[in-house]
Amino acid sequence: MADTKVYRASTTAPVNIAVVKYWGKRDPKLNLPTNSSLSVTLSQADLRTLTTASCSSSYTDGDSLTLNGEASDVSGARTQACFRELRSRRAALEAVDTSLPKLSAMPVKLVSENNFPTAAGLASSAAGFAALVKAIALLYELPDSPSELSLVARQGSGSACRSLFGGYVAWRMGDKDDGSDSKAELIAPAEHWPEMRALILVASAAKKGVSSTSGMQQTVATSGLFQQRISKVVPANMAAMEEAVKGRDFAKFAEVTMRESNSFHATCADTYPPIFYMNDISKAAIRAVEAINAKAGKTIAAYTFDAGPNCVVYYLEENASTILGTFYPVLAEVTGWKEGTAGIKSAVEIDGSLV
Ligand code: ADP
Ligand code: DP6
Ligand code: CO
Repeated sequence: MADTKVYRASTTAPVNIAVVKYWGKRDPKLNLPTNSSLSVTLSQADLRTLTTASCSSSYTDGDSLTLNGEASDVSGARTQACFRELRSRRAALEAVDTSLPKLSAMPVKLVSENNFPTAAGLASSAAGFAALVKAIALLYELPDSPSELSLVARQGSGSACRSLFGGYVAWRMGDKDDGSDSKAELIAPAEHWPEMRALILVASAAKKGVSSTSGMQQTVATSGLFQQRISKVVPANMAAMEEAVKGRDFAKFAEVTMRESNSFHATCADTYPPIFYMNDISKAAIRAVEAINAKAGKTIAAYTFDAGPNCVVYYLEENASTILGTFYPVLAEVTGWKEGTAGIKSAVEIDGSLV
């Protein structure tokens, strides 16, 4: 009798916010970057993607994805690359053990939900593609390690390869043409620096005007500053950041984080025509962090912005009351911004697990 059973698996994946930014592809097809990057994975208790993957020969409409309750396109080359990789790994298992159900031949249905703004510079593509790859890997009972799966997730969205790990994670750009050495690697688990916290300020939950994929390709094609960034600035920042994390040196971690964010946004402004991801609230958040550090007489807070207006502030738990007590009042004074008016505002922990 034909197997019409529905096979199903669910999983979650965390957001990661880069402190050394990925911005530029040397191979857009394989999603190979022009530079290495480093990120901190945030707690799934606050921000996460939840994805359920199922497959059945009774599904007649082909592969599908429902994202935040709406039908989403799966025909894009990057989603297709993930499906293809995962199916071929499952097919290899089925070839060895012929008693396994032939899941690799069945259509896949994905239902995914982000509990934070999508396409707004809070790494939804990172959590989203990490969850997609993990859910299908779980459904297919693949034995692949997080590092192996990061190679697949990278093809969905570059930053997604780093969301396969908790803690402090590097994405080594690699130098092979086939991308087999362009994957994520754990620098230190969250327990290495348990006092680290992140504050998320949602300045706008709206979808960004220029996607990360398109923005970075415009920068590579038109910015002169970008060449300087990938050849000099990022290699120095990667080395300094790894040292800062390993030595738990917050002042150094903070300075590199802020300089990196500024350097990345400067290359966006140097793109022709220019790309502006930060808005007036974002800029006021930078001033609020500067005011906090000036008042403290040392660096106790670090801002960073991905490709969007939303701010992430890293700080240590011992300074929580100073940061939380100063950040919002200063921001309110400068912009009239009110707490709770723009979605999430939270102090989140760093995710500890190998996810
Ligand atoms: P962000 O700053 O949020 O990462 P991007 O421009 O990099 O923004 O990517 C946003 C795109 O990522 C969305 O338009 C969608 O195609 C994809 N994406 C976001 N969340 C998910 C998800 N849960 N599952 C699959 N794809 C997702
Ligand atoms: C600014 O990973 O979203 O957040 O690979 O095209 O999907 P694609 O881009 P994406 O770019 C992230 C850019 C960034 C910096 C970072 O996360 O390192
Ligand atoms: Co993204």
